[in-house]
Amino acid sequence: LNISKLPGLICLFLLTFLMLIFSQIDTAMKKNVITTNKTPPKPTVTLQPQIYSGDTVTVRCEIQGGEGAQWRYEWRRGQKNIRGTSSEYTVTVTESDGEGYSCRGRRDYLLTEWSDIIRLTVLNEPRPVLTVSPSWLSPGASVTLNCEVEHPSAGWSFYWYKAVPDLSEKSSSYELLPDGSGTAQDSYIIHGQTHTAGYVCRAGRGDPEYHTDHSQPKFVWSAGQFVSLSASLTVSPDRVQHFNSDSVSLTCEGNFTEWRVRKFSDGRLSDCRRMTGSTCNINTSKSDTGVYWCESGSGEFSSAVNITVQNDGNVSILVSPVHPVTEGASVNLSCSLRTQKILSNVFFYHNDKLIQNDPRGELKISAVSKSDEGFYKCQYSGRESAQSWMSVKGEQDQNSVVHKVAATMPYLESRLAGFSG
Ligand SMILES: *[C@@H]1O[C@H](CO)[C@@H](O)[C@H](O)[C@H]1NC(C)=O
Ligand SMILES: *[C@@H]1O[C@H](CO)[C@@H](O)[C@H](O)[C@H]1NC(C)=O
Ligand SMILES: *[C@@H]1O[C@H](CO)[C@@H](O)[C@H](O)[C@H]1NC(C)=O
Ligand SMILES: *[C@@H]1O[C@H](CO)[C@@H](O)[C@H](O)[C@H]1NC(C)=O
Ligand SMILES: *[C@@H]1O[C@H](CO)[C@@H](O)[C@H](O)[C@H]1NC(C)=O
Repeated sequence: LNISKLPGLICLFLLTFLMLIFSQIDTAMKKNVITTNKTPPKPTVTLQPQIYSGDTVTVRCEIQGGEGAQWRYEWRRGQKNIRGTSSEYTVTVTESDGEGYSCRGRRDYLLTEWSDIIRLTVLNEPRPVLTVSPSWLSPGASVTLNCEVEHPSAGWSFYWYKAVPDLSEKSSSYELLPDGSGTAQDSYIIHGQTHTAGYVCRAGRGDPEYHTDHSQPKFVWSAGQFVSLSASLTVSPDRVQHFNSDSVSLTCEGNFTEWRVRKFSDGRLSDCRRMTGSTCNINTSKSDTGVYWCESGSGEFSSAVNITVQNDGNVSILVSPVHPVTEGASVNLSCSLRTQKILSNVFFYHNDKLIQNDPRGELKISAVSKSDEGFYKCQYSGRESAQSWMSVKGEQDQNSVVHKVAATMPYLESRLAGFSG
């Protein structure tokens, strides 16, 4: 080896080495240029659409076009970093979270920008809607309650209550129905119901169980054909239909000291505001059309009545009894204008069928039978009244009432016997 050539060789080595390094740096730089040229995708945060208080919610971070890559995630609630490095963040919501969530992804040299902030909108407690059918009791028929919650698939269980009037509270308290706690079915059937009654439902799910609010109360009404009347409601004047701004009084009767008169109208429950003792006085308006009944201080429900207010003063009203008519008794239906009772040439309809079309002004039924039950309306010189239901109570129902009453309240027997005799 020629010593004199050694520095040259070292130089050559160094040169190649340096070139190698430069080329490496160059490719690395080129690589960097390429990757930074391509803007990192901005992630988006996604959520399940509907969230209720108590729900466990998974917030997901999605990087469009970055699927399949090994991202590490960062999360923020509001402006504060929170723990979590996976694409999903799980949170149990207790109330509306105003701050919202955002995320970003990190991989090799890449760092995405922060996603837009997504806020969790926690819905108000879902309030179930109860339906009761039928609305009016008939002997022997069962009553079906249905409790409807939004998102029925979500594994709700149901709780069924009956309303117990509580006059001191200006409301009702609720009493769980037999086997009415946490049923998997969203319906509940009641057999042998004979009195007017109110019901309420609510739903629950999860562990620990989270409960919805109570539904609005709904009612099944008894017209009083087949139960002992320990409480009743009388209407004066005694007819279903009334003109606008008629003065009507509703009186609760029975051996109780405290009463309230309730009205169910247009899906809403309300109490009479003007009670004088056991009487509710109203100056009628269209909104007084509805179902009325009494509730006593000791939790009794009376039978219920329909009231219809005719808004148009130029239209006639049908004069028909508010309470069921007993089979075999006589009943007279008539037609009235605001100014006077119509004495002649009235057409009467039973279930939309013309049944009397002559100079008489009244429809007289001397001995009512079950087949006379139904809707009636009248028509006078082209002006037609609204239609109203007339119910007929069987003598048999009446007899069973007498026996029932005799067993519990002997003092009533003579009263009832007096009526039917
Ligand atoms: C009230 O009216 C409904 C129909 O509108 C009827 O089914 C029900 O029997 C009526 N109740 C009374 C007590 O007349
Ligand atoms: C009414 O109720 C009171 C107390 O419950 C009782 O003492 C009274 O005898 C009852 N009156 C009638 C007519 O039944
Ligand atoms: C009904 O109206 C009449 C006359 O406008 C009035 O004297 C009476 O106090 C009213 N009654 C009620 C219960 O509002
Ligand atoms: C009431 O009805 C009658 C007959 O349809 C009509 O002649 C009259 O003009 C009406 N009056 C009002 C105030 O509408
Ligand atoms: C119906 O009219 C007849 C004959 O006018 C009368 O005898 C009967 O008492 C009336 N019935 C009622 C319930 O008013």
